[in-house]
Amino acid sequence: MKKDNIILMGFMGVGKGTIARALAEQTKQFAVDSDDLIESLQNRKIKTIFAKEGEEYFRNLEQECANWIEMCVNGTIISVGGGFFKRPNFKNLGTIIYLQSSFEGIMDRINNAPNAKNKLKKRPLLQDMQEAKKLFDTRGPSYEEIADIVIDVENKNIENIVNEILKKVK
Ligand code: S3P
Repeated sequence: MKKDNIILMGFMGVGKGTIARALAEQTKQFAVDSDDLIESLQNRKIKTIFAKEGEEYFRNLEQECANWIEMCVNGTIISVGGGFFKRPNFKNLGTIIYLQSSFEGIMDRINNAPNAKNKLKKRPLLQDMQEAKKLFDTRGPSYEEIADIVIDVENKNIENIVNEILKKVK
């Protein structure tokens, strides 16, 4: 049986954490983020984990996180890192919502943020824009395939996105 968590999935920088917090405020639930959980478990930043241990090690931590959610978490809004959807038990974790935007829309969102530099610096897979665009192009179809609900977030404000999600999950 599907768990009653809401899982926010999508490419890096699309606004998963922001939407998760706004959604949680509306529904009076808790919002958690897979990257935050991993950083807290490891007591170090994702960037450091990638640099010191490599990507595979990080993906194993994502798997531990997915297993914990599957076994222990219910009734929660969960934003997940852009590559988390590859965990084999991902679909079991809750209703999967894909926050969709064009690559340009995502880059504009990041570059217009007050902390744009940090948003870019903290993401190892956003250091080379050509590689990031390739990753975006290959992941798009997988996100669509795995999602229960697709929400177009481009040029929409947070309130509208949250309302759209709430209408569709009911
Ligand atoms: C990644 C996305 C990041 C983080 C890690 C890898 C990815 O999370 O998990 O840097 O593979 O797309 P955000 O999507 O929150 O940036």
